[in-house]
Amino acid sequence: MNFEQCSKLLNKFSQNALVEYLESLPENERNKLIDEISSVNFEKIDDLLRIANSASKTGRKMIPVDCISLKSLSENQDYLNKCTNYGIDLIKRGAVAAFVVAGGQGSRLGFEGPKGAFPVSAVKNKTLFQLHAEKVLSATRKYNSNIPFLIMTSKANHSATVAEFEKNSYFGLDHKNVHIFPQNMIPSLDIEGKLILSGKTSLFRNPDGHGGSLTALESSGVLDKIMSQGVEFISYFQVDNPLINIIDPLFFGIHGIENSELSSKALIKAYPDEKVGIFVKYDDSTVGVEEYSDLPKEVLSARDSDGSLLYKWGSIGIHVFSCSFIKRNISGGEINLPFHVARKKIKAYVKGEIKEIEGFKFEKFVFDSIPLAEKTIILETLRENEFAPVKNASGVDSLESSRELMNNLYRSWLLEKNYSIPDFVKNIEISPLTALCSNDLPSDLIVDWKENTYIGI
Ligand code: UD1
Repeated sequence: MNFEQCSKLLNKFSQNALVEYLESLPENERNKLIDEISSVNFEKIDDLLRIANSASKTGRKMIPVDCISLKSLSENQDYLNKCTNYGIDLIKRGAVAAFVVAGGQGSRLGFEGPKGAFPVSAVKNKTLFQLHAEKVLSATRKYNSNIPFLIMTSKANHSATVAEFEKNSYFGLDHKNVHIFPQNMIPSLDIEGKLILSGKTSLFRNPDGHGGSLTALESSGVLDKIMSQGVEFISYFQVDNPLINIIDPLFFGIHGIENSELSSKALIKAYPDEKVGIFVKYDDSTVGVEEYSDLPKEVLSARDSDGSLLYKWGSIGIHVFSCSFIKRNISGGEINLPFHVARKKIKAYVKGEIKEIEGFKFEKFVFDSIPLAEKTIILETLRENEFAPVKNASGVDSLESSRELMNNLYRSWLLEKNYSIPDFVKNIEISPLTALCSNDLPSDLIVDWKENTYIGI
């Protein structure tokens, strides 16, 4: 694209200020920026602007959703065993993969670098990536299987993530089984709808949200690769949750037996304002997730006749996707999910310096793919077993609260196995390589109890 063509395009989409700016640049720099601009889909930008300017949230009619509760499962032991065994078979025959979305930075934690490189475990200070990788490795050993580990990064943390895995020899995993690939980026806009610069010759873009993960799986070639190896189901999770049960036979088994295309785990919300999305059913009978920030207080705190929250099932970013579901919904190389808009502070390049400005960032959410599924199920999980996110520097969902939940879980495993824990023990950490659940704990374990006790190799 030459300067004239670029100016014409920019003028057509009311980006006149950028034309003036291009004019002011020396030729080599101007060409660099023109190259960037030529990769922008301006029709899409126009749509984004419309989204930004429409104040309306979905406003769709919704009712509470059905969830397979743990109580109902415990009352049907035959079904529970059947699903678990089915899941174990899937894992053993190499039909499952693990997929973590890790495009986010640790900025809310005041941590420079990929969030996955944030140290979280209480005794050994293992990072989120190490814990996740060790869980995958442990499951490959337990089931004598091959489990590809997929990691979606973003432009800002891709190289650092690859370096983290290389530096740590892929945490013991076979590097050929680890696939690290970046998500797409989408231009942000200022509040007048104009494109923003991030530097003298570059546009400001933000990662396209975890909803971009399904498209990135396809465009990176990773989906085809794992499918050719026999993978049918993908365990999807968020990088910030060290308690995630990544390779869960029951979850895979129910998904498979019920012919679900996209399954989700849910937990009962702790309180009305908890910052989690909620599962709902829409008036066309499809299921979806509504983000807490899009819902009025009356909906978040509405009560059922038994006094429990009407919309009690919180979404925690844990799903199983059928590969065939992703493939079926790809059209023109992507899965077309809606963009959500957030007004945020953006560090922009303005007249030769970096300034903080107000602007719009656009993101896709992976749970918007749920209504595309012909069959979807929701399975209850317990917070104490599977949800201890590290999101904030202090308070709720912080390192401190996450460590407490990890400590409590490891204690409960030992107590279940009749170990008595001396009073002076403050922190317990069990390596995923030693146990993925209480039943994996060897009965002849000799524990060297200390104030901070680590059980593992
Ligand atoms: C998210 C969910 C919320 C859920 C909660 C549970 C959204 C919009 N909200 O909130 O419904 O209850 O988690 O913990 O998702 N990520 C990328 N690329 C991106 C954006 C995010 O890979 O472009 C990854 C992050 O690295 C992280 C995950 O997606 O692993 C969640 O993103 P985050 O922005 O932390 O979502 P929350 O606001 O915590």
